[in-house]
Amino acid sequence: MTKVVVTLPLPDAALAPLREHFQVLAWEHSEPMSPETLAARLGDADGVLCTLNSRFDAALLAANSHLKVISSVSVGVDHIDLEAASASGIPVGHTPGVLVDSTADMALSLMLATTRRIAEADRFIRDGGWTSGWSTGFFLGTDLSRATVGLVGLGPIGQAVAKRLQGFGARVIAWNRSPKDVPGVEMVDLDTLFAESDVVSIHAALTADTHHLVSAVRLASMKDGAILINTARGGLVDEGALITELHNGRLRAGLDVFEQEPLSSESPLLGLDNVVLVPHLGSATAATRQAMVRVALGNLIAGMTGKPLPHCANPGVYS
Ligand code: GLV
Repeated sequence: MTKVVVTLPLPDAALAPLREHFQVLAWEHSEPMSPETLAARLGDADGVLCTLNSRFDAALLAANSHLKVISSVSVGVDHIDLEAASASGIPVGHTPGVLVDSTADMALSLMLATTRRIAEADRFIRDGGWTSGWSTGFFLGTDLSRATVGLVGLGPIGQAVAKRLQGFGARVIAWNRSPKDVPGVEMVDLDTLFAESDVVSIHAALTADTHHLVSAVRLASMKDGAILINTARGGLVDEGALITELHNGRLRAGLDVFEQEPLSSESPLLGLDNVVLVPHLGSATAATRQAMVRVALGNLIAGMTGKPLPHCANPGVYS
């Protein structure tokens, strides 16, 4: 019987359709599978269902070119060396589409939390700081309705964020590798976007080309008091340079993703009041996570049965 390795804990109901056809090596722990266990389990496996916690580098892929499919429960696939997967003839599945609205909602949540200082105010009350009544100068924030918001990346998630921002009355500008015609969104170059935005929100994929796209120079070109929102990938931003800007109080930020995840307990971000931190929860709603697992299982079963993956991140593997 062909064998499938699963690296995330899944309920029996989700595993049942796999168990009908394949031998399933399930993972029941909430902590991620270690790289050593993954490498050992892949040895005689035919397919793998994984998350972004499982890193597939060129060496691991070359050693496992017998795999018929790698199916990731994620839209982003920067944890998998796609070129090496293609060179080994392994199709890689991912889950675009189903997490667009949840991730866009998270970007808006972080924009509102930062512009209206929600986390800071919550800490203030809990710390017993609210001892006087209502005050006109208390925790003043900024309005999205008066803001220019710059979207770096105008794919499905960027467009869903633009749609929401139009409801708030914000001016929306955007940069995309290939310009797009989206109603109510003005396409600009990256320099203009960083210089004009009150809020910059990142919605691009992390690749070798986009690593540190938000560089120290681009951060320095942002307006005083501007806000950086990142719900995409930590590696898109030079986190050290961002910490410097946050530390000197010039910028603010709302971050769902980090260069190293989980965030180290030593990270200087933890001591800063002008950043809202969320532990990579962009797609974390029950309905969206179920949909992601459903799409990923579809990709896995297609790959295991020799069919093209419905959502393939390296379609060139078939040519
Ligand atoms: C989560 O970050 C994903 O890529 O789905």
